[in-house]
Amino acid sequence: MSTIKISDGIIKDDVLVIGVSIKSGKGALSIESGDLALENKALISMLNDLAFSGKNDEVLIVPGTTTRLIAFTGLGKSVSTFDNEVLRRAAGAAARALAGNSSATFALPAKSASAVLAIAEGAGLGSYLFDQFRGSTKSAQKSPLKSATIYTSLVNGPEAKAIAHQAEIISKYTNLVRDLINTPPSHLTPDSFTKKIEEAVKAAGGASIGLKVSTISHTQLKSKGFGGITAVGQGSANPPRLFSISYTPKGVKAKKKYAYVGKGITFDTGGLALKPALGMEAMKSDMSGAAAVCAATIAIALLKLPVAIEAWAPLAENMVSDNATRPSDVITMYGGKTVEVINPDAEGRLVLGDALVKAQESKDLDGIVDVATLTGHQVVALGKRTSAVMTNNEEFSDHFLSVAKTSGELFWPMPLPADLRPSLDSPVADIANMGERMGGMLVAGLFLKEFVSDELPWLHLDIAGPAYNEGAPHGYTPVGGTGIALRSLVQLAIEASA
Ligand code: BES
Ligand code: MN
Ligand code: ZN
Repeated sequence: MSTIKISDGIIKDDVLVIGVSIKSGKGALSIESGDLALENKALISMLNDLAFSGKNDEVLIVPGTTTRLIAFTGLGKSVSTFDNEVLRRAAGAAARALAGNSSATFALPAKSASAVLAIAEGAGLGSYLFDQFRGSTKSAQKSPLKSATIYTSLVNGPEAKAIAHQAEIISKYTNLVRDLINTPPSHLTPDSFTKKIEEAVKAAGGASIGLKVSTISHTQLKSKGFGGITAVGQGSANPPRLFSISYTPKGVKAKKKYAYVGKGITFDTGGLALKPALGMEAMKSDMSGAAAVCAATIAIALLKLPVAIEAWAPLAENMVSDNATRPSDVITMYGGKTVEVINPDAEGRLVLGDALVKAQESKDLDGIVDVATLTGHQVVALGKRTSAVMTNNEEFSDHFLSVAKTSGELFWPMPLPADLRPSLDSPVADIANMGERMGGMLVAGLFLKEFVSDELPWLHLDIAGPAYNEGAPHGYTPVGGTGIALRSLVQLAIEASA
């Protein structure tokens, strides 16, 4: 999606998107076109003839009368005010179905500025295609929508412009996260990850919008004692990095300062605890956290939010080789804690431990958030669409959960039970990198907690399931990288500016 507009003027696009809901009781349909008045009776009889159900995610495209095509998108049960996420998904499903067309006007039932934003975001997020690695099959791919107009008289002038701009930024940088995740590990190494983000920072305006990047090289990582990142990366021909982006608002004092830390394993073979071949290909998504924190920081800078962000991406490729870390090796993490590496496949916590300690060298942080595809246990516990939040500060976690709800991303709180902590005790080192198998997501959280000051509000987001969609596309979510966490990270900064 390149452009999003908001207008209640004459419809110029040749495709019109209209919402449809299901009235309670008899299951009769209702046209939900917001501020756009239509001949509802004729449309409903057509929808009945074509057996349209009105369920969320159902889209039907038919020839139109005033526009070339009409796309009906299901909103589920009729309500007086639709949930923003229902609208976001309905707009996204329509945008996906409209691939191959160039522009569409979305007439959906928005009753607030935030609903208009949700529709605009859905349209943008549903307009995505990853075809960088196609050759002979490239021309057969349908291009995503290039522009969307959100039809509403609720907002206009500068407010409408600001909403459209925000939706464009959210979609553009979510799509950057998706691109990075979908890029195969042959083309995305720790080094090339830093180059790709540097390019994106430059294209966004770089220092002129308050962004700065820096990279700690493999040599520096070794000499400065980043034992976690080094241990995970040492089995690979593609050496590890610790990359960071900072954003300092221009001309205003930052209202809050957050550190965002994202797991950046460009490929996770499991190391000497080699993963089974079946499904290993999905481990190209193990850098989803790193991509989310970097792209969110650029988005926050472009939105000129009065908050400071320091994003850290510990990048490594977890490989098998004669130089790979062995089970029982003891490493010294940045800051001095020693870790017995019981399982080289529990590598995320090793790179994050180093990066969390480094991030806390910054003064006056109001909070630190790590984002990671950390455990398979997360997927077992919460499924593929709901991410987990663990914390040392319930107030911060409650705040984040409300922020995430606003953004439409599904997060759920998980505990860090003290009784599981002794399972991480090691007979030889300060701590082991693996403990009790049952409750493994929480054990991983407890490991990370050891690297965060009790005084600093901290959130650990385990996005293992939701980061990568191996199933069918749905709503505004494509197959492959989803871009999860970006919207919540941006929204956290938006709400810190209020
Ligand atoms: N990257 C994986 C976690 C993962 C699993 C992400 C499935 C996405 C989908 C992580 O590095 C890992 O291998 N975790 C192990 C930890 C265990 C060895 C303690 C796991 O979850 O099995
Ligand atoms: Mn692993
Ligand atoms: Zn991993």
